[in-house]
Amino acid sequence: MPLLDLHRQYQTIREDVLAAIARVCDSQAFILGPEVEALEHEIAALTGAAAAVGCSSGTEALWLALIAGGVKPGDSVITTPLSFFASASSIVRAGAIPVFVDVDHETLNLDAALVRKRIVEHRSESRHENRPENLRAILPVHLYGQCADMDAFAQLGDEFNLAIVEDAAQAIGAEWRGRGAGSLGVTAAFSFYPTKNLSAYGEAGIVTTTDLEMAEHMRRLRSHGSPRRYFHEEFGWNGRMDAIQGAVLRVKLAHLGEWNRKRQQHAATYDRLFAEAGLNSASSSASSKAAHSPVRLPARSAAATHIFHQYVIRAERRDELRTFLADRKIGSEVYYPSPLHLQPVFSYLGLREGDFPVAEQAAREVLALPMFAELTEPEIRRVVEAIAEFYS
Ligand SMILES: Cc1ncc(COP(=O)(O)O)c(C=O)c1O
Repeated sequence: MPLLDLHRQYQTIREDVLAAIARVCDSQAFILGPEVEALEHEIAALTGAAAAVGCSSGTEALWLALIAGGVKPGDSVITTPLSFFASASSIVRAGAIPVFVDVDHETLNLDAALVRKRIVEHRSESRHENRPENLRAILPVHLYGQCADMDAFAQLGDEFNLAIVEDAAQAIGAEWRGRGAGSLGVTAAFSFYPTKNLSAYGEAGIVTTTDLEMAEHMRRLRSHGSPRRYFHEEFGWNGRMDAIQGAVLRVKLAHLGEWNRKRQQHAATYDRLFAEAGLNSASSSASSKAAHSPVRLPARSAAATHIFHQYVIRAERRDELRTFLADRKIGSEVYYPSPLHLQPVFSYLGLREGDFPVAEQAAREVLALPMFAELTEPEIRRVVEAIAEFYS
């Protein structure tokens, strides 16, 4: 059983997807155009953002979101070390410096209390070293499909005049207090990489924003910074979305609500079966006094509607468990085995092991289990039984 089986999804939408691709081929218009524009309107409506701008990948979306959010060369941007590389590399591509802060030990999202501490320290360092304050933005990542604490980040943004840029790559359809991911910061980036809850037939991404001027800025930036043909006021890039991706994504978007609901049901089934197997130590402070379990289940924040891009447990002897599952043909994955501050490319930041202990511990324990809408209860049962057997 794979971690993700896209073939099963394809069987349910094959005719519609092929018709959508044929529509684009018949039009012979392959870049942006009506399919991408329609998708932009539909994503803006889904997220509750003022506008959406289709682009070539989630990584490109992050760059657009940061630049439109006001990040300039020499600025600093706070983010999490427990994310995909692009969360931090896009900060570097914007000419800025990533400032890592540890994650919350329950949700594994950026820890807002530690971010506050870091902002205060950063300001006092700037004063002492007599350099201008350059902290410009916070980039929380909605890890595994659950929003970071957006109440706290909105408050920090207001108090310290920082842009909040969401990395919502894993969180299409997720909500925070009933408001959609993508409408919670000034700008937000989504990825439609083939493994995502809403996925393209190739590379694609989209940015959303609550500010129409920023939307126009991002439209220019994705087309070489050009407001009209062969006229350039600033440096942009080719970050446009293919029409075929727009058309395929629109077919799939019609199913996203149902697919996300099924993922939530599967998560509840995993929870129940783990509990029945006696492996039910939920990852919450309330249960920390409960009997010791070698497995901790994903924590849910009460304000967040989790869309389970991944169902991630924390497991003792994680790597052995992974091999045990692989031997039984059960797919699993580690997101992420090395926190970003320990990646060689960030050695210039002078950070070392021990600097972000919660993220480092999580990197040793996290394990994503099979999760996709078409998964069945017997399959989930097989996964849980195999894990129970491993620890028996
Ligand atoms: C948290 C996060 N940020 C950014 C990205 C980058 O998206 P893409 O692969 O579409 O460039 C991804 C996905 O790969 C991601 O999971």
